[in-house]
Amino acid sequence: MSENTIIELKGLTKKYGYGDTESFALKDFDLTIKRGEFIMIMGPSGCGKTTLLNIIGLLDRATRGEYILNGENVAGISSHRQAKLRAKKIGFVFQNFNLINDLPILENVALPLVYTGYSKTSRLKNASSVLKRFHLQEREYYLPYQLSGGQQQRVAIARAIVGDPEIILADEPTGNLDSRSSHIVMEELKGIHEEGNTIIMVTHNPTLTVYATRVINMLDGQIDTDVKTVADANLPQPISVKIKKRKSDFSSLTDNDVKRSRRSRRSRRKK
Ligand SMILES: Nc1ncnc2c1ncn2[C@@H]1O[C@H](COP(=O)(O)OP(=O)(O)OP(=O)(O)O)[C@@H](O)[C@H]1O
Ligand SMILES: [Mg+2]
Repeated sequence: MSENTIIELKGLTKKYGYGDTESFALKDFDLTIKRGEFIMIMGPSGCGKTTLLNIIGLLDRATRGEYILNGENVAGISSHRQAKLRAKKIGFVFQNFNLINDLPILENVALPLVYTGYSKTSRLKNASSVLKRFHLQEREYYLPYQLSGGQQQRVAIARAIVGDPEIILADEPTGNLDSRSSHIVMEELKGIHEEGNTIIMVTHNPTLTVYATRVINMLDGQIDTDVKTVADANLPQPISVKIKKRKSDFSSLTDNDVKRSRRSRRSRRKK
């Protein structure tokens, strides 16, 4: 496995049902993905695109086959470990945005950081700085329904990248958007890709493939065509865009946080 390989799938198969009802969403699927690729996956409805993305995103498991992520075979690891890896390495963007309706967008974006151990104040500060990048900072206390579809999808992208994952998975992220909003969302994804992140995106829209470095057409759970439009040597190199701050960085904490942590330390000492 070359050091630039981020994902390797070998003989990945996803079977549903048994006997007469048996069907395959993926069949002996092999794929090697390099760091920095922007892959677009196309193909007819039911050919297995979402199944593939869910398995790569550790939201679902294959029936058989190997899934090697950063050199580690993750197909058989525990659900707990899968969840931890997912929180650290993978960001998701869905067609219907999947925002939580009764949470302000700032808290929606901060949600993936709940698993990182940062204080609530740091989580909200990080979320706010990512929203700033998407020019949505002045709306951070809006609820999702108060935003347009394009703005909601940009919030969803902010949520996908807040934890600084290496891999962004997007399942028809422009499927519910008009062409202007689609363009804006694609430009945001392009920027994230240029920072060296790996993006795997499902789309039904062939005009979007101009953003991709590789276009894979699927058919009946297998790869039909696989075309690279950018040579591996020309893929963007990862640059670290650190939006988040380390736990030990007290500059990201407010005075109240520091007082609270001193108080709880004092009360622990007394016990
Ligand atoms: N839970 C399930 N039980 C049984 N079959 C399923 C299940 N989930 C998916 N499938 C089947 O697996 C196949 C692939 O589904 P998948 O959702 O991956 O397709 P897709 O390529 O994403 O389609 P679309 O473009 O419509 O989103 C389909 O035939 C579907 O019916
Ligand atoms: Mg799908």
